[in-house]
Amino acid sequence: MLKDQDRIFTNLYGMHDRSLKGAMARGHWDGTREILEKGRDWIVQQVKDSGLRGRGGAGFPTGLKWSFMPKESDGRPAYLVINADESEPATCKDREIMRHDPHTLIEGALIAGFAMGAHTAYIYIRGEFIREREVLQNAINEAYEAGLIGKNACKSGWDFDLFLHHGAGAYICGEETALLESLEGKKGMPRMKPPFPAAAGLYGCPTTVNNVESIAVVPTILRRGADWFASFGRPNNSGTKLMALTGHVNNPCVFEESMSMSVREIIETHGGGVRGGWDNLKAIIPGGASCPILRKDQLDDATMDFDGMREKQSSFGTGCMIVMDQSTDVIAAVWRLSKFFKHESCGQCTPCREGTGWMMRVMERLVTGDAEIEEIDMLYDVSKQVEGHTICALGDAAAWPIQGLIRNFRDEIEDRIKARKTGRVTAVAAE
Ligand SMILES: Cc1cc2nc3c(=O)[nH]c(=O)nc-3n(C[C@H](O)[C@H](O)[C@H](O)COP(=O)(O)O)c2cc1C
Ligand code: SF4
Repeated sequence: MLKDQDRIFTNLYGMHDRSLKGAMARGHWDGTREILEKGRDWIVQQVKDSGLRGRGGAGFPTGLKWSFMPKESDGRPAYLVINADESEPATCKDREIMRHDPHTLIEGALIAGFAMGAHTAYIYIRGEFIREREVLQNAINEAYEAGLIGKNACKSGWDFDLFLHHGAGAYICGEETALLESLEGKKGMPRMKPPFPAAAGLYGCPTTVNNVESIAVVPTILRRGADWFASFGRPNNSGTKLMALTGHVNNPCVFEESMSMSVREIIETHGGGVRGGWDNLKAIIPGGASCPILRKDQLDDATMDFDGMREKQSSFGTGCMIVMDQSTDVIAAVWRLSKFFKHESCGQCTPCREGTGWMMRVMERLVTGDAEIEEIDMLYDVSKQVEGHTICALGDAAAWPIQGLIRNFRDEIEDRIKARKTGRVTAVAAE
């Protein structure tokens, strides 16, 4: 278990003073100018060496992403955009940073902005996060007043402006290019890639989009050293991570932990165990709604990190886990996610617009068992036609939970269809 002295987020639960004074007392904004004086290349190299991978779900190496930004400006400004949309069901970690430890994010924004040559950064915050926006704006104002950001930020000679932009509450606006469209005042519809944002992002200018947590951990990594951060977890999966447990655990919670612990240890240490004990576990969805569901017998030896979840044909995502005990109707649970993705599709591409609705309607019938056995394979095939054939990853996100369900709970789906046909109603969910 992570020791208290190794926590980056020391006010995760809001027990201490979140103002600038409190943040400084906990070691934030300490030596920021000296960090900036070490230069852009040093910062990017340290972030690469730390092994930090993006905390927004895809796990792309953060230092590498920053290195794609042009070294010299061709006359266009560069932008840092921080993704604070956090709309993936079950993911609830970035909001804790914003409402309780906002200065970690603001200091991180300055350092990351400087490292990519951006004098301006935007934080795009989810529409529903009203209180978080208020806290964050107050913290931004405090940082301006103290000269930490703005002209000659921290007396470093670097000018840096930070703007907070409030979204209107659409899941698709968390996708980075839809987010940029929305920030430009248009409908939040994903763009085709390439060009990637580092070449043409916000207003057609070089842009990097990073998750809140990816940015907020950077100042501490630079203060304590890349080796310190890399010492947690295993290679390719390093660092500490904000994770969450929701669903059938005794204590649902958000916590910071070392990467690469076992799933069981995490649930037992932080969640107080599965409701009714480990043997009452049925399944988990590891890191947000788009990650394929896993069965208990796959979890007995599972490691909670990028590689560990990939080995099980799922994904680590945002590290925010949904735990389901034996009382769960997993078919209904995945149907509910299908309904969510169908609702949130922006409708731009045919496989996603039509496929998400089609998949949801078949899932609806699988819940009641009112289907044919052959439809299971047909559903799997359709999900494969959606996956990888769309402009953005929402199509994949809609396909994966269904594929996971079919791979891991096929018996249960078949049993329900048979029960429906034979009138064995106990196996059929209530309609
Ligand atoms: C449909 C969809 C929704 C997304 N929602 C979020 C989100 O709410 N927050 C986030 O950080 N990333 C989200 N992402 C991932 C972003 O597109 C992007 O990869 C991420 O912000 C990059 O940051 P990182 O490299 O620091 O992880 C979403 C992606 C998709 C396809
Ligand atoms: S995959 Fe879906 S959400 Fe993404 S661009 Fe296409 S229609 Fe829109």
